[in-house]
Amino acid sequence: MPTCPSVPDIPILWLLLLLVVSLNAQNKSWDKPVCTEGIVSVPRGSPAVMTCNISNTFTDVTIQLSAYGKDRIIFEKKPQGNFSWHGWELQVRGGQAQLVIKDTQDNHTGIYLWQLHGGQRYYTNTVLNISEPSNEDKATDTRLFTPFPDHAKSSPLEGKPGTLVGVITVFIVGVAGFITFIYYRHRRS
Ligand SMILES: *[C@@H]1O[C@H](CO)[C@@H](O)[C@H](O)[C@H]1NC(C)=O
Ligand SMILES: *[C@@H]1O[C@H](CO)[C@@H](O)[C@H](O)[C@H]1NC(C)=O
Ligand SMILES: *[C@@H]1O[C@H](CO)[C@@H](O)[C@H](O)[C@H]1NC(C)=O
Repeated sequence: MPTCPSVPDIPILWLLLLLVVSLNAQNKSWDKPVCTEGIVSVPRGSPAVMTCNISNTFTDVTIQLSAYGKDRIIFEKKPQGNFSWHGWELQVRGGQAQLVIKDTQDNHTGIYLWQLHGGQRYYTNTVLNISEPSNEDKATDTRLFTPFPDHAKSSPLEGKPGTLVGVITVFIVGVAGFITFIYYRHRRS
């Protein structure tokens, strides 16, 4: 004769379920995730690397980027292997996951939320911040775009690259300002 399910049966069911889960967990070793911590700051245009390692093998990895008030899933439940999407590269190998951005731009900044799935599930996040390229990088860039290299060569300021770069920058800014000024005057008339 079948017994009607009564209310007290439910807690017993839960207890059994809990027991099964904890037995299961006991047999597994912990993932012990270690990830790149805090804020990663790289100059614009330089590569950025973020890693997460666990002591088990990854089942899958999901990475979400939160930036400018929007959440984007960059990689969803990626198993072992190499993946690439819009400048982001993810490598999942054994218990190691590595996210590489070769040429960091402003749209790569934000909070990277990692969902790690190995023996267990973990959530962790790393912030990527882009800094302005250092003065050295800037000097190289300015020299690349110097409009009058011959003039620069014969300049008495040669040998003082800092001053030279300053003069060239002021010159470029001046020309840009002048063009803008002309443009607006032209538009108004
Ligand atoms: C625990 O895991 C090992 C292998 O990792 C397996 O041989 C063993 O049967 C498991 N024990 C239980 C109680 O699940
Ligand atoms: C993860 O492992 C790799 C290879 O051993 C190592 O280079 C990297 O620094 C590790 N990441 C962290 C956050 O410890
Ligand atoms: C990010 O970098 C900028 C400089 O480019 C700095 O002013 C800002 O404080 C940094 N933000 C964080 C959270 O470190």
